[in-house]
Amino acid sequence: MKNVLVLKNSILGAASASNQLIDDAIAALKLSDSAAIAVRDLGVAPVPHLDGNAVVALRSEPENPDQEAARQLSDLLIAELQAADTIIIGAPMYNFGMPSTLKSWFDYILRAGVTFSYSEAGPLGLVTGKRAIVVLTRGGVYSEGPAVVMDSHEPHIRNLLAFIGITDVQFVRAEGLAMGPEARERGLSTAKAGIENGLDLAMSVQFKAAS
Ligand SMILES: Cc1cc2nc3c(=O)[nH]c(=O)nc-3n(C[C@H](O)[C@H](O)[C@H](O)COP(=O)(O)O)c2cc1C
Repeated sequence: MKNVLVLKNSILGAASASNQLIDDAIAALKLSDSAAIAVRDLGVAPVPHLDGNAVVALRSEPENPDQEAARQLSDLLIAELQAADTIIIGAPMYNFGMPSTLKSWFDYILRAGVTFSYSEAGPLGLVTGKRAIVVLTRGGVYSEGPAVVMDSHEPHIRNLLAFIGITDVQFVRAEGLAMGPEARERGLSTAKAGIENGLDLAMSVQFKAAS
């Protein structure tokens, strides 16, 4: 059976491009009836930012009810991640990076000894055997041209996933979405074509080998 975890992050509701493309990605996976899809919409129900209690709970034993709640949330989010073999992440670009909702999710699932460990050889990701599809939506264009240096979006997400051991990652980019109706249509159809032609396993392996 296939287990898919979907993390949505748009705050734009029905107008969200990333949420539309996530639906296209789910369809392109051609999942069987036995597949389970768990959806966590962080844009609608965000996890809280880390605070003093949460940081204690993630690094040592909880000592008060707030710390206990933070530990339970972290355990739940990690269990959802570990249960999935495929993770689809919607990642709109907000202010040159990922939405703070997605960053908070990462803050709760990066746990030493649980999702990564430190060894003499450096950090070791413990979340292995998984594939991720990351849908990037952007008002401008950052994959080429003068704004390439301003992309603190894709590299940050790639590094966080790799840090916990997820290295089989396919990025789907929809760019130029705020550059007028024609550019938006072009950006969306390029991303859709990438999804329709590229979400089979062979493409994923090819991508992994090339990176
Ligand atoms: C708060 C906010 C900040 C944004 N910041 C950027 C930005 O820094 N660069 C950019 O190219 N587009 C930016 N955009 C445009 C979004 O990336 C674009 O609308 C995209 O479609 C968002 O994905 P979504 O529709 O799934 O929410 C921003 C949009 C919002 C709402």
